[in-house]
Amino acid sequence: MQDRKTILLLGATSDIGRATALQYAQAGWQVLLAARNVEAARREADDIATRTGAEVGVHRLDILETDRFEAFIDELPTLPDTVACVVGELGDQARAQTDLGHATLLLRSNFEGPALLLGLFAERFLVRRSGTLIGVSSVAGDRGRGSNYVYGAAKAGFTAFLSGLRNRLAPAGLKMITVKPGFVRTRMTAGMKLPPLLTAEPEEVGRAIFAAAEKGRADVIYVRPVWRMVMTTIGLIPETLFKRLRL
Ligand SMILES: NC(=O)c1ccc[n+]([C@@H]2O[C@H](COP(=O)([O-])OP(=O)(O)OC[C@H]3O[C@@H](n4cnc5c(N)ncnc54)[C@H](OP(=O)(O)O)[C@@H]3O)[C@@H](O)[C@H]2O)c1
Repeated sequence: MQDRKTILLLGATSDIGRATALQYAQAGWQVLLAARNVEAARREADDIATRTGAEVGVHRLDILETDRFEAFIDELPTLPDTVACVVGELGDQARAQTDLGHATLLLRSNFEGPALLLGLFAERFLVRRSGTLIGVSSVAGDRGRGSNYVYGAAKAGFTAFLSGLRNRLAPAGLKMITVKPGFVRTRMTAGMKLPPLLTAEPEEVGRAIFAAAEKGRADVIYVRPVWRMVMTTIGLIPETLFKRLRL
């Protein structure tokens, strides 16, 4: 058991987190699930263990409790080989425009917490001289749009933080993967009308994350490659025109 590699999923009860955990468990990894809803994480752990025979542990994590982060890491049974952060909160853009509490929740859940916690793991990995970090960000962070710029700005901050971390970790041979899933059919997007060609299933995201982190060489992945083209095109639209579009 000792030479088994370990992955820690932060936000493990998300649809993407569950699919990613299953990928790693199927590949023979030990899995640690961290979530604010410990009961749901336990049910998920039992399911993954039954289906794969993997060893699956559960740990409580609220991404808003930044002052608990050091203790959270210290209390893990081992320093994981790979840490993936899947935590996120889409929220309500219209509400965030006037309700500062809601806006703050989106900024903290999508940027502050995920960035600071991955940053702390990076420090431990640098001391150990090994480890892979994965951050699930979003194409929403590639360019601010009127319909979701609070969430998008938080993801943009997260993407920039991960880019800086990668730049700092690379000389030590440590990997930092940024994942931009595009649309994914999950609890977060339930009820939305999504274009099928641009929409991935959670299992597809889980497979893409495992392939990128454990076999690939890419630093930033768009789960469906068409998204790279879409976002490059959106990025090229001049601001004078962009501000007139209803996106
Ligand atoms: N679905 C998409 O189209 C899409 C597109 C681009 C990026 N993403 C990103 O992909 C990631 C996973 O999202 P998803 O689509 O799988 O949606 P999801 O099922 O709603 O996942 C969001 C996860 O974040 C967790 N979370 C929120 N606040 C937290 C907190 N304070 N402490 C701990 N955990 C917290 C939720 O925990 P609970 O289970 O307890 O609610 C849930 O597990 C997110 O970062 C999201 O922004 C999704």
